[in-house]
Amino acid sequence: MTRKLYVKSYGCQMNAYDSQRMADTLAPEGFVETATPDGADLIILNTCHIREKAADKLYSELGRMRELKKQAADDGRRVTLAVAGCVAQAEGKEIVRRNSAVDLVFGPQNYHRLPGLLARAENGAVVDTEFPAEDKFDHLAAPSRAAMRKRGVSAFLTVQEGCDKFCTFCVVPYTRGAEASRPVAKILAEAERLADAGVREITLIGQNVNAYHGEGTNGRAASLTDLLYCLAGVPGIARLRYTTSHPLDMDERLIEAHRDLPALMPHLHLPVQSGSDRILGAMNRRHTAAEYLNVIERLRRARPDIAFSSDFIVGFPGESEDDFCRTLGLVSEVGYASAYSFKYSPRPGTPAAGMDQLPEAVKDERLQRLQHEIDRQLDAFNARSLGATLDVLFEKPAKRPGQIVGKSPYLQPVHVMDHVMASSSLIGEIHPVKIDHIGSFTLSGQLAEQYSMQDRRSLIVA
Ligand code: 5AD
Ligand code: SF4
Repeated sequence: MTRKLYVKSYGCQMNAYDSQRMADTLAPEGFVETATPDGADLIILNTCHIREKAADKLYSELGRMRELKKQAADDGRRVTLAVAGCVAQAEGKEIVRRNSAVDLVFGPQNYHRLPGLLARAENGAVVDTEFPAEDKFDHLAAPSRAAMRKRGVSAFLTVQEGCDKFCTFCVVPYTRGAEASRPVAKILAEAERLADAGVREITLIGQNVNAYHGEGTNGRAASLTDLLYCLAGVPGIARLRYTTSHPLDMDERLIEAHRDLPALMPHLHLPVQSGSDRILGAMNRRHTAAEYLNVIERLRRARPDIAFSSDFIVGFPGESEDDFCRTLGLVSEVGYASAYSFKYSPRPGTPAAGMDQLPEAVKDERLQRLQHEIDRQLDAFNARSLGATLDVLFEKPAKRPGQIVGKSPYLQPVHVMDHVMASSSLIGEIHPVKIDHIGSFTLSGQLAEQYSMQDRRSLIVA
């Protein structure tokens, strides 16, 4: 009997990856994914707790789901409602207390127990937010080849989870727990399966990915650099990326890998959060602005075309106008390809939540100024691509008929008209594209000379 599963994923890429692995684990139980909650037999909300009113948002979403569940019951259909992710971990029993329609609450470390938890939830609400001793990755089912194919040529692969850094604003060490790295052999096997299903680009993910220290194939500890070299040898894998990194863990070997490892793409997300040493100290980032800039400089020396992105928090407790101007100064000094900026949001249980808070209006105003500068830099970065020839990994047909879209090495979306045949003929391939138009978020261009229509035709005929 097939049953329908709807998973709604909030927040980071790790949650997106977890949602896929939950679907993979439920597939052998007869669950097939659907794109909408209507008609689903099992609804999982995979929540994020990182910013803003995460819990409030969840409770209002649960209100809507309760209605949906009631309607289904009127039609004689049982819907199971589950809450996963970091809000589930943080709120636990409170979720079931506040909304009796919820059947199951489970934290990020318990996804492998999902089939058993669902069976138990048939007899009343279940809450599981323990940090179990066993490794969930050993128990989560691998995706089927068909599922991997459907997900496309670029895939995420979790290599490390949790965080021991305890930045004073961040909830992750509490919701995801201590740092834990998966063994190289397991990651390698997963990468080989992905490559076999047509994946060409893998992004290694972890909350603190460059602190990776898993067991190597020789039994000794392997670093992220060791892991990257290992994965670069997997046939079919043409591109590697990793996210999210902490500046403190950018060691020399990893920096050199950006020079020496062709598969490693020249784009790095390296959050700095603030340009003020005083605020960096209060955030417990354990580095100064100058130390961050030094890492950037060394990376640029290793790989001159490397593009950077970052996260920034504005309005952290105690941030003065002078502190904020130092952030603006750092942004102009680095010159980012893109960046995310957030207003500080107190997370219950974290040290900064107890500090004196800034007025909302101050945060709003600073956010606008920072975003303005970031937008300007994004435009400038893209403008520099005009006339350049960039290698594009084609991912999927674009919205406009006949167009396909892929990514440049610098993570820019690039649109190309595929003159040759049906628009999917280049998907999964990497070709040079001459950029002739810059849009607000994407570039577009023509396949470069060597892949002219004629060449493609003869390639296809052959
Ligand atoms: N308030 C605002 N932004 C936050 N982030 C993490 N915690 C908070 C918070 N309490 C941002 C950081 C981090 C990104 C994932 O989210 O910039 O790098
Ligand atoms: Fe959100 Fe962080 Fe949890 Fe990811 S790990 S879901 S960003 S709180």
